[in-house]
Amino acid sequence: MAIYRLWPAAEARGTHDRVERASPRAPKRGLDWNDSSNGTGTDYGCAMATGVLSAPRPLSRRMLRQALRVFNAAATPYGVDRYVELVRPSWSSTEVRAKVVHVARTTPRSVTLTLRPNGNWSGFRAGQHTQLSVEIDGVRQTRCYSMANDATSGTGLIELTITAHPEGRVSRHLQLAARKGQTVGLTTAQGTFTLPSSEPPHLLLISGGSGITPVMSMLRTRCALGWRTPVTFLHYALTAGDMLYREELEEIAATAPNVRLVRVFTDQPGTGDMDGFLTRAHLDAATPEWTSAEAFVCGPAPLMEAARTLFAQANRSEHLRTEAFTLTQFTAEAGTVDGTVRFGASERAVASDGTPLLLQAEAAGLTPLTGCRMGICHTCTRRLCAGVVRDAVTGELTNGPDVNIRICVSVPVGDVEIDL
Ligand SMILES: Cc1cc2nc3c(=O)[nH]c(=O)nc-3n(C[C@H](O)[C@H](O)[C@H](O)COP(=O)(O)OP(=O)(O)OC[C@H]3O[C@@H](n4cnc5c(N)ncnc54)[C@H](O)[C@@H]3O)c2cc1C
Ligand code: FES
Repeated sequence: MAIYRLWPAAEARGTHDRVERASPRAPKRGLDWNDSSNGTGTDYGCAMATGVLSAPRPLSRRMLRQALRVFNAAATPYGVDRYVELVRPSWSSTEVRAKVVHVARTTPRSVTLTLRPNGNWSGFRAGQHTQLSVEIDGVRQTRCYSMANDATSGTGLIELTITAHPEGRVSRHLQLAARKGQTVGLTTAQGTFTLPSSEPPHLLLISGGSGITPVMSMLRTRCALGWRTPVTFLHYALTAGDMLYREELEEIAATAPNVRLVRVFTDQPGTGDMDGFLTRAHLDAATPEWTSAEAFVCGPAPLMEAARTLFAQANRSEHLRTEAFTLTQFTAEAGTVDGTVRFGASERAVASDGTPLLLQAEAAGLTPLTGCRMGICHTCTRRLCAGVVRDAVTGELTNGPDVNIRICVSVPVGDVEIDL
């Protein structure tokens, strides 16, 4: 007997708790997904998302999981995944993997990937990110990327837009080499920088450069949910040609109710809606109601710093949420750069240069596992065997021996040894 569930009851109320498997076409856990569709389109005039039937077929899934356990035991030490991935790379009984189903290069420095995750993916909230892994020159590299698409679409697809950094390993590789049919690793969605679950009286979305992705997802999701309260989308790009999602945003602003788009092209004064960088005058001009809005900002450190200052001056810090893509450039305190860093497991040692241990390890030719590279994901956690480290974000000191530290944000203070 088939059991059916009516999923987005939350959407019907105008809220959007994480929508998983909203479509009857959504993949089943542990299997990959072979539909060839690649659309992530959203109807901006759209009103409410409608209920969708899903057919989880719990009995066959339970049997499949049992069978997998048996196969996994029989396939020890490699597990069943290692054999099946030879013929179907996006399949995994436990890991989230995704197939690239569409690749678009809409600006000179970016690439937009549409991905079809396997059944271990469990949906996302607008504003969240995933850790994408890709092999480059035989080494698995992992970086965080925010989903940019409507979180309620129910297509089972996700969209990531990656901006290449001139010296960047992963972003440059993806921008140049990502191709349809490729398989990448993902994690389940993470992060607390998310669209409120019910409609705020006014939404202010501010972004700079590549920081547009999580707020684009918020705007697309807000439109799909049929929210009608005002939204102001204030975006800073170097030039009009560099602005991600420009045409789509202009279309949304022209057709969706109550959406105001304000574009600033910092390298091309006179070509956008305003000139220069974020100031109080910019906020006032973008929307006089910013003092009563729920605001989300993502972009370069100076943009976020300016937003924090302006909201603090207006006593509205608790109404501002920020998401950083990079660790603010770390500068060692004068007189603290000394000592030796020992990488115990690799039997290597270097004179400390005062930067976080991850950078020193990579400079020494080691390839520790990493994710966000800014203290969020804990992927780089290693044991501090001896010595003291300072947290590059909080300044807090941690004393060894035998404590776990995130090496991407841990700066040695004197001699240290880590288990790497
Ligand atoms: C939560 C989160 C979400 C993210 N979402 C996105 C996204 O949607 N789209 C996107 O393009 N990126 C996103 N990023 C940034 C992304 O994870 C990588 O940092 C970025 O792609 C650079 O990686 P890389 O391997 O090319 O550069 P790396 O090889 O790691 O670094 C090379 C050099 O570039 C500098 N650099 C790295 N990243 C940046 C940056 N963002 N701005 C300025 N300088 C930088 C580094 O300091 C270093 O000097 C996100 C990061 C986080 C933490
Ligand atoms: S790489 Fe994410 S916490 Fe260090």
